[in-house]
Amino acid sequence: MSDPSQQRMLKFASPLIDEATIAGVADVLRSGQITSGPWVARFESALSQFCEGRPVRVMTSATAAVEVALQLCDIGQGDEVITCAQSFFTVLNMIVRRGATPVFVDCDLVTRSIDLSQVEARIGPRTRAIVPTHWPGSLVDMDALYALARRHRIRVVEDAALVMGSTYRGRPIGAFGDLVTFSFHPNKNITSIEGGALVCNDENEVRRVEALRFHGIERLADGTRDVRFPGGKFNLPDVNARIGVEQLAQLPEFLAHRRSLVLRYFERFPERSGCVLPPHPQDGDGQSWNMFCILLPDAPSMSRKQFRDALEKRGIATGVSYEALHLSTLGRQYGYRRGDLPNTERIAERTVTLPLHAAMQVDDVDRVCAACAEILASGTR
Ligand SMILES: Cc1ncc(COP(=O)(O)O)c(C=O)c1O
Repeated sequence: MSDPSQQRMLKFASPLIDEATIAGVADVLRSGQITSGPWVARFESALSQFCEGRPVRVMTSATAAVEVALQLCDIGQGDEVITCAQSFFTVLNMIVRRGATPVFVDCDLVTRSIDLSQVEARIGPRTRAIVPTHWPGSLVDMDALYALARRHRIRVVEDAALVMGSTYRGRPIGAFGDLVTFSFHPNKNITSIEGGALVCNDENEVRRVEALRFHGIERLADGTRDVRFPGGKFNLPDVNARIGVEQLAQLPEFLAHRRSLVLRYFERFPERSGCVLPPHPQDGDGQSWNMFCILLPDAPSMSRKQFRDALEKRGIATGVSYEALHLSTLGRQYGYRRGDLPNTERIAERTVTLPLHAAMQVDDVDRVCAACAEILASGTR
């Protein structure tokens, strides 16, 4: 093995921001108009075009967008919202912050997609919405999801934080469906440093969203302002929107590069390692790849921590996507226990997110795969 101290640290996620974007940000900073202004309007208009004309409003994060979406659906005390326990803390937190009860269901072990048959089984008189998370490489079955939502007359808030640029039957996620949220955190397919977006259905929703993201303020004809419901302070500054506009234009390039890295992972990842890999990309499948998550074999000889530490020793950073939401201290307060959602729990215990980002090269993937082969074959040395 080459001397690890000679190898640069490979991050598991990293943004790629070009010089034109940096110069653009400097222009915004010099302009004096640095909080929400013309660049927010441009970013929203570009996002709306991306979503085939549906109205889109940007915010400071996808987390804010999920909270606003749930508020827009009038979800509150006494309501239930069904979500998948194999997702990020955002979905649990925002449901609880609305005063509603999170109802967790399991996911598929390979695709990690929400199990829609379990959703159907958990729908009751208090169910108001479903918040499914789309996984890189495997979108939720949208035909089945929306058939179910229509049948039971419940709202859908798609958590599309990880899949900007994925298409379903040839149409981008966000271009159809109910409410859809995107994230522009630096680990995502495009970034605005922090940032997120909410795709709405019509202008009435847009008006409410604009109030909800900015103190609940409504402007009256006499030039004064009123507040009828409590809004937040989630407006995105122009500095961030300027980055977002440039990044969105580069999305196809970023996605093509990410996909080529994923194909290399499938080519080079050690065979017969016992690891479960994500679904193999197929030509024309429309999937985007924000993360490459493997599932370690259940062998008790090597803990996940040992595996990750061994990669870290070789200069390779990894992540965990995700912990089981129903077994978090907050999730357990709703009565969940270990054993309730076996696939989610197995993923939470054995998943490792390997490096994947637009600033990586194919030989970085080769380096990760060689390190995984070595560690998996020989224990944790
Ligand atoms: C699946 C998922 N949903 C939502 C979010 C929240 O995104 P943000 O950081 O923009 O609030 C994340 C963040 O990592 C995520 O992974």
